[in-house]
Amino acid sequence: MSAAPVVRLEEVGVTYGRGVAALRALNGITLDIDAAEVTLLLGPSGSGKTTLLQVMGCLLRPTTGRVALLGRSLADATPEALAALRLAHVGFVFQHYNLFPTLRAWENVAVALDLKGLAPASQREEALALLERLGLDDRATHFPSELSGGQKQRVAIARALAGTPGLILADEPTAALDSRTGQDVVATLRDLAHNDGCAVVIVSHDPRVERFADRVLHLEDGRVLDDRRTHPNEAS
Ligand SMILES: Nc1ncnc2c1ncn2[C@@H]1O[C@H](COP(=O)(O)OP(=O)(O)OP(=O)(O)O)[C@@H](O)[C@H]1O
Ligand SMILES: [Mg+2]
Repeated sequence: MSAAPVVRLEEVGVTYGRGVAALRALNGITLDIDAAEVTLLLGPSGSGKTTLLQVMGCLLRPTTGRVALLGRSLADATPEALAALRLAHVGFVFQHYNLFPTLRAWENVAVALDLKGLAPASQREEALALLERLGLDDRATHFPSELSGGQKQRVAIARALAGTPGLILADEPTAALDSRTGQDVVATLRDLAHNDGCAVVIVSHDPRVERFADRVLHLEDGRVLDDRRTHPNEAS
């Protein structure tokens, strides 16, 4: 594994709009996100959590500052190069799952494998293997409407894992789930970080997520107010 952090942010600022309408969403954020760790992003509504995830995931170019993904500076990456980096290295998980309702569970995963260039002949088998890892082998041919919230989120995680990205970004992945199911989903994300070595960043308002995190970052007004490790001596 490369020694570079998965993501490095230096003095990152994001301003939306301009002139009197300008809104500074991120204000000089400097931090590294390391492999094999779960980082929890906490902060009040509007503090910049989603904006920060978008910068980390190459969805949004910061107004100021520097971003590097896996040691590669994004400063002069073209939009096409950013999209290619995102596709190769980043998996996204959303609050509302964002599954295709007319595709079966395995097909939802296969779409991501297809985008990542896996040969069509291997897509079904690989999608089924990913679903099996998430404990969903018996749900592979179901449609999203036939799945529970937790099962849908697991399909979304399987899809995010397609192509084994180094970085998984999850924006409020438990918000639509009951507390038990939400904890199962976060435990799954933690296991992926600890067993597969990917960096996982989770935005959540749910304090129960905290015990699954290795590191907790508090954002307020676009700044990091607090950055602490939760289990400093835990090896895995
Ligand atoms: N596309 C946009 N255009 C203009 N302003 C935006 C845009 N996206 C976010 N903002 C503003 O930037 C600030 C940070 O927004 P962001 O979505 O990052 O916050 P958040 O911490 O994720 O909030 P929440 O917990 O409500 O999801 C907010 O004031 C928001 O209104
Ligand atoms: Mg948000």
